[in-house]
Amino acid sequence: MLQGKRILLIVAGGIAAFKALELIRRLRERGAAVRCILTEAGTRFVTPLSLQALSEDRVYTDMFSLTDESEMGHIQLSRDADLLVVVPATANILARMAGGLADDLAATVLLATDKPVLAAPAMNVRMWTHAATVANVETLKKRGVTFIGPNDGAMACNEHGPGRMSEPAEIAAAIESMLAANRPLAGKRALVTSGPTREAIDPVRYISNHSSGKQGHAIAAALARLGAEVTLVSGPVAVADPPEVRVVRVDSADQMLAACLAAGRVDVAVCAAAVADWKVTRTAGAKIKKKAGALPPALELAANPDILATLSKPGAKRPALVVGFAAETEDLVANAIAKRGRKGCDWIVANDVSPAIGTFGGERNTVHLVSAAGVENWPTLTKDEVAGRLAARMALHLAGPRSAEAAE
Ligand code: C5P
Repeated sequence: MLQGKRILLIVAGGIAAFKALELIRRLRERGAAVRCILTEAGTRFVTPLSLQALSEDRVYTDMFSLTDESEMGHIQLSRDADLLVVVPATANILARMAGGLADDLAATVLLATDKPVLAAPAMNVRMWTHAATVANVETLKKRGVTFIGPNDGAMACNEHGPGRMSEPAEIAAAIESMLAANRPLAGKRALVTSGPTREAIDPVRYISNHSSGKQGHAIAAALARLGAEVTLVSGPVAVADPPEVRVVRVDSADQMLAACLAAGRVDVAVCAAAVADWKVTRTAGAKIKKKAGALPPALELAANPDILATLSKPGAKRPALVVGFAAETEDLVANAIAKRGRKGCDWIVANDVSPAIGTFGGERNTVHLVSAAGVENWPTLTKDEVAGRLAARMALHLAGPRSAEAAE
């Protein structure tokens, strides 16, 4: 399905433009968000109002509209999409794409995009078989544009042959398979913990740590990009919620554990949260008063539940892959190896959090991946890059024992 996917539909001027309306309906039914660009010629075949009503989004037509550019620049239009689809791909728009023209909003977005493009050609059979069109299609294929159709059959111009645009159901299926190709974790469920926990002393004071949540949030985002259905259980952080991830906000370790267990069965669990080791045994119901001459209150601490160890316990509900983090300031790798055994998880991602390294709150991370196969030392990467690599490795591992062995 296309849940959470964003498709930018470019509707050009051909009689088959009416099929774009049916396509929007089918894409929306599958959970995709659809936004439309309508070319000037396209407005002769379908109205912006029809596209707007079906997509439930505004329709973009004019490159020089100041309001359009201030609200949504043409670069942003393509950045916001997972896939661009040209329906119908007329001989004219294919020629403009092949020539690299940027003479209207549609052509400009197609030139500016780095997203995959699917084109559904529709034109008179002679136009489709014309050497110019043949060459343009060849050029565009070499540049990575994917084509669907055209089909053979009767056409509006009373001719017969190749040139009929593919049916909306066929185009929707092509869109699904294009977007699924990069989604090896489609159908898998993932749980990620992130950020610090806060252990209340009283209603205004707490014990916590410096975790920013950047690494955990980046992992949740990377898993979602690969198609996993992700629940992110996060302590209090300032980083934004990752897109297409279900976020459950918690404060304490007890709440974090409860939220993890409530997430149900998952295929992979990544415990990146810096869970406070101790909580205050008796949280005061009211703010503890500072009294002149009195001794400071003694805080009695109790151990927090170990979420990673709990999720790692053998049993039918254990995720196929459980990954923990080891934040250490000394003997990093040796500690991580010992921790992997102690916690019962499959992998430990070890990172040095000495103040000199600045991992907490920073953008970069130098990690070591400790698994049954041994220790891998990764180069210093951004937290997003670490997340991307980890997610790719998790996908490989979950794909099956053979591919996992090859990687480990
Ligand atoms: O024991 P330590 O805190 O060093 O272990 C770190 C790993 O264990 C991290 O993956 C962290 O998210 C997880 N952890 C946990 N619950 C705790 C303590 C740590 O999930 N109470």
